[in-house]
Amino acid sequence: MQEKFVGRHIIAMDELSREEIEYILEISREMEANRDNYSDLLRGVIVASLFFEPSTRTRMSFESAAHRLGASVISTTGVKFSSLYKGETLYDTAKMVSAYADVIVMRHPEQGAAHALAKGADKPILNAGDGPGDHPTQTLLDLYTIQKNKGTLDGLKVGFVGDLKYGRTVHSLSTALRYFGGEQYFVSPPQLAMPDKYLSQLDDSGIPYHIAEQLDDVLPELDVLYVTRVQKERFDDEEEYERLKHFYVIDQATLTKAKPDMAIMHPLPRVGEIKEEVDSLPNAIYFEQAKNGVPVRMALLALVTGKWGGQSVS
Ligand code: CP
Repeated sequence: MQEKFVGRHIIAMDELSREEIEYILEISREMEANRDNYSDLLRGVIVASLFFEPSTRTRMSFESAAHRLGASVISTTGVKFSSLYKGETLYDTAKMVSAYADVIVMRHPEQGAAHALAKGADKPILNAGDGPGDHPTQTLLDLYTIQKNKGTLDGLKVGFVGDLKYGRTVHSLSTALRYFGGEQYFVSPPQLAMPDKYLSQLDDSGIPYHIAEQLDDVLPELDVLYVTRVQKERFDDEEEYERLKHFYVIDQATLTKAKPDMAIMHPLPRVGEIKEEVDSLPNAIYFEQAKNGVPVRMALLALVTGKWGGQSVS
């Protein structure tokens, strides 16, 4: 299987099969269990880290993953500090960065930017989030976290709450979960509803889904609750953002109707939609989720650079 990943772009979740996802998760488990065995795996490899939109977790966990594997990192953060600001195209940027690095990680505020970059790239692109589009490496760490917590990915009832319109993590995770059966629940105000494109995908895959405005209506059903931030940066109308930003606030009282072992997840950052009092619950796993970004991104870097040689994994 590893040869399928060498030099490959990881841009959108619908470009990965179930078997490929499971393979990435298997290597991620190995990276977590035996991290020190791989501290030289990417020695001599250069990772370009291009973040044209704010990030803490994705950028730092990718860079941490690179360092854990012995790679070097070159980076630029913010459009203003790259030649995109002078009008350079993503195509030309890709040509140049391909000359300086062996793998390119990019976050960009525009949907489709990673595909645009890939057109000019001679090296593999890892999409670290393109506007409201996709965030495949987040989804892989989300799946890793769910599997670790629930023991399986199959047949789960997963509820998404918050900004389902602009939330790329929701779009990517819903897409990936199609392979694993179960049911999906979409809880949002109408203004932030899950786009039809993703609902049609579920229809085509025969995955049942439910749409609700009140979290209470679906909470008792759920095995996983995936909470999201309302994406201020995607709104044209600031007043509408202010009206919607705290449409849902999860506190301990909210959760009384939930199954006691319902996993509470969030891609983070949070801006008030989960109260800190929830953090102490054993099923609040969002910080563990963020931590899992390192082994998952180690696996991805090793695979696309061709440095993962099919070592036997435990
Ligand atoms: N989850 C996530 O993408 O976080 P950052 O924006 O901090 O990278």
